[in-house]
Amino acid sequence: MTSIPHIPVLLNEALQALNLAQSKLVVDATYGRGGHAQAIFRRLPPGAQLIVIDRDCAAIEQAEAAWGAEKRVEAIHAPFSRLSEIIGGRDLVGKVDGILFDLGVSSPQLDQAERGFGFSRDGPLDMRMDQTRGITAQAWIKHVDEKELARVLRVYGEERFARRISRAIKKTLEEKELRSTGELTRLISAAVPTRERGKHPATRSFQAIRIAVNDELQEIDAVLPQALEVLSQGGRMVFISFHSLEDRLVKRYLKTQSRGDPYPRDLPVTHDMLKPRLRLIGKAVMPSAQEVAINPRARSAVMRVAQKVE
Ligand SMILES: C[S@@+](CC[C@H](N)C(=O)[O-])C[C@H]1O[C@@H](n2cnc3c(N)ncnc32)[C@H](O)[C@@H]1O
Repeated sequence: MTSIPHIPVLLNEALQALNLAQSKLVVDATYGRGGHAQAIFRRLPPGAQLIVIDRDCAAIEQAEAAWGAEKRVEAIHAPFSRLSEIIGGRDLVGKVDGILFDLGVSSPQLDQAERGFGFSRDGPLDMRMDQTRGITAQAWIKHVDEKELARVLRVYGEERFARRISRAIKKTLEEKELRSTGELTRLISAAVPTRERGKHPATRSFQAIRIAVNDELQEIDAVLPQALEVLSQGGRMVFISFHSLEDRLVKRYLKTQSRGDPYPRDLPVTHDMLKPRLRLIGKAVMPSAQEVAINPRARSAVMRVAQKVE
């Protein structure tokens, strides 16, 4: 397997947001290839601990190879929706000073044909971040009905031609199996009547199917309250999203928790009574034009930061 590097997105911005100089324990919930984790570790004070999580075995293998001898770093193979259990199991709830979520897929996942995430190289239709569980994209496409497939393509992929593509996939499946990314790419390309400039016609559908196969939005929904729970008073949570639906979930949660408990509008309520649990730190941060020029995969990134209220 070739090792394709992953360039960490919004690296300096995320490091600054995490407030590392004061931290005793930091969690990188989406290790990938450790771009952020390496930089975080270098900035931690002596004795501080780093826990890294990824649901991808290849990511954790790389983490173990890179950090095996380092007692202050622990690598855990798990979906981040198990955050409370992971942190609770180590008796560290309320002690996490910073937690980073760099959502979506890594460059090695996208670029290695055998993972089945990409349409530019032919590979098995897998698309699972965690290849030890769940169903592959091949099985998902086969079992989902035409209407739901169209909904996923439209909502997760913002695909205009969702119904056409869904119909073409289901029609083909009546005659033969769809086993490879190449077969799916050709089928989608033939079903899409017009081309978007600079975008492969299968881009949106592949993204949508990947999000569905990996329950990506459900994972985010599940982890948001857990991130709040495990943080220390004054601890920071940092989210880097690449999809408007991911960012919407994060934005809504941070906004609600920073407003505090809902009261009827006409009641005279003080800020203290509302008991907000989070404080928003700055506004949404996007990568600079310079970063996007060096790393085009950064182009859709949005970072949001919040701090647990003391
Ligand atoms: C964008 S990459 C992170 C890259 C990393 N920050 C770096 O600099 O190398 C996202 C990583 O998060 C992992 N991931 C995505 N969703 C996850 C989830 N729900 N639970 C655990 N890991 C997840 C993916 O497997 C992938 O390795």
